[in-house]
Amino acid sequence: MAANLAQQVPDIEMLFQPTHDERARQQFVSGLRKHAIIDMREDMTRDYRERVEPALVARGTQPADWRDIERAMEKQPSYRFYSTVRYHAQEMCYLSVQPTIERALPAMIETGRKLATDNPHGGSLRLTPNFEVPRYVSALDVHLIPGCFHSEHTADDVAQGAVTSFGGKIFTGQHPYRKRPGVVAESVSHWLSVRYPDFKPRRILDLGTTSGKNLMPYAQVFPQAELYGIDVAAPALRFGHALAAHEGIPVHFSQQNAEDMDFPDGHFDLIVSSFFFHEVSSAAVKKILNECQRLLTPGGVMAQMELPNEAAVGPYENFFWNWDIHNNNEPFYGAFRASEPIEACVAAGFDRAQCFAHRIPDFASSGPEKLAQFVRGEIEAPPHGAGGWFIFGARKLA
Ligand SMILES: C[S@@+](CC[C@H](N)C(=O)[O-])C[C@H]1O[C@@H](n2cnc3c(N)ncnc32)[C@H](O)[C@@H]1O
Repeated sequence: MAANLAQQVPDIEMLFQPTHDERARQQFVSGLRKHAIIDMREDMTRDYRERVEPALVARGTQPADWRDIERAMEKQPSYRFYSTVRYHAQEMCYLSVQPTIERALPAMIETGRKLATDNPHGGSLRLTPNFEVPRYVSALDVHLIPGCFHSEHTADDVAQGAVTSFGGKIFTGQHPYRKRPGVVAESVSHWLSVRYPDFKPRRILDLGTTSGKNLMPYAQVFPQAELYGIDVAAPALRFGHALAAHEGIPVHFSQQNAEDMDFPDGHFDLIVSSFFFHEVSSAAVKKILNECQRLLTPGGVMAQMELPNEAAVGPYENFFWNWDIHNNNEPFYGAFRASEPIEACVAAGFDRAQCFAHRIPDFASSGPEKLAQFVRGEIEAPPHGAGGWFIFGARKLA
C-alpha cells in the first residue's frame, strides 16, 4: 500500500498502549509461558527419559501408549510443576492484556465501525444478527480465553477480537517459531506454490479465520486471489476487518458456521485453515469436510494446518500434545487427534491418491532452498511446532 494511504487508514493495533506496569506484566507472562513450554518441558522430558521410563521398564511395566505415560507422569514433580506453570501462564496471557484493551475499547470500536463503513481497500464485513454460535464454542472458554472468541457485551464490540489477538502475541511472543503473526499461512502458501507450480487460485477461503492472521499472508504469494475469511465470532471478524483495512489487503470477512456456508458450489480454488479442526465437534469435522468438497472447484486444493494425528508421532509426543485435552478447554482435541485425516478426507469424497497428511518446513526458518529440497523429497520437514507444521488435505480431481 502507498505510504500516504497507509497513514490515512487508522491502525486499530496502535490503540493498544500498555502502561509501564502493564507492559512489564505482559513481558513477564510471555517469558513465563516460554519457560514452561520450552525449558520446563525439556526438563520434564529428560526426567521421563532418564528416570521415569527406565524405572517402569525395570518393573516390567513399559508404557504402551500416551495414556500410560500420562498416568506415570501425573505423580512426578517435574510434570506437576510444568503443568501448573503452563496452565497459569496460558490464563495470564489473556488476563494480562485485558486492562489495556478495556481502556482502548471505545476508540477500537469506533475505528472498527468507521473502517467497516468505509472499506477503504475494497474488503467487506458481513455479520448475521442473532447468529447461533455452536455449543462447542459458546459453552466454554476455549484456550482459557475469558469470554472465548465470540462474546459481545456492547454494540459493535471488538473486545474478544483484541483479547485473542494481543493475548496471542503474548502467548507466542517468545516462541522460537511463532514470533511473527501469520507464520503458518506463510509456510503453507509457499509450500503450495512449489508443490503445485501451475496452481493460481482466484478465490481463497480461510475457515475459522478469527482475525485473519493466517489468511492475509496469502496475498503475498497469490496476489491475484480474492481472500475470504469466515468465523462464528463477530468481535474477531470486526477486529480482523480493521486490521486488513489498515494493511491494505482486501479481505471479505463473514460470520458463518463452517458446517453450512452460504457460498455457491465450486466457488473456491483454495480452502485453508489453521489450528481449527481440533476445536470443533467430531460431527462438525465431517460436515466441514463435506462443505470443502462442495465449495472447491475441480482441480482446487484444500490444505488444513493441524496438530499431527496420534498415529503420526510416538507415545511421548502424544502425551505432550494431549495436555490440552484436560487443561485447555478443548474437549474435541483428543478425538480429532485420534482420527485419521486421510480417511476423513476420503469419507468426504476426496480421491485417496490426491490426499496428503504430512509436515512441511516452516518457511521463515527454512527458507526457499530447503523448501524446494523438501518438495523434491530430498529432506524431511522438522517436527511439528519445532521448525515444521503438520498439514492435511487434498486436491479435488479436475
Ligand atoms: C484457534 S482459533 C483459529 C485461529 C486462526 N485460524 C489463526 O490462525 O489465527 C479457532 C477459530 O475457529 C472459530 N470457529 C469454531 N468453530 C467454528 C465453526 N463451526 N465455523 C466457523 N468458525 C468456527 C472460532 O471462533 C475461532 O475463531
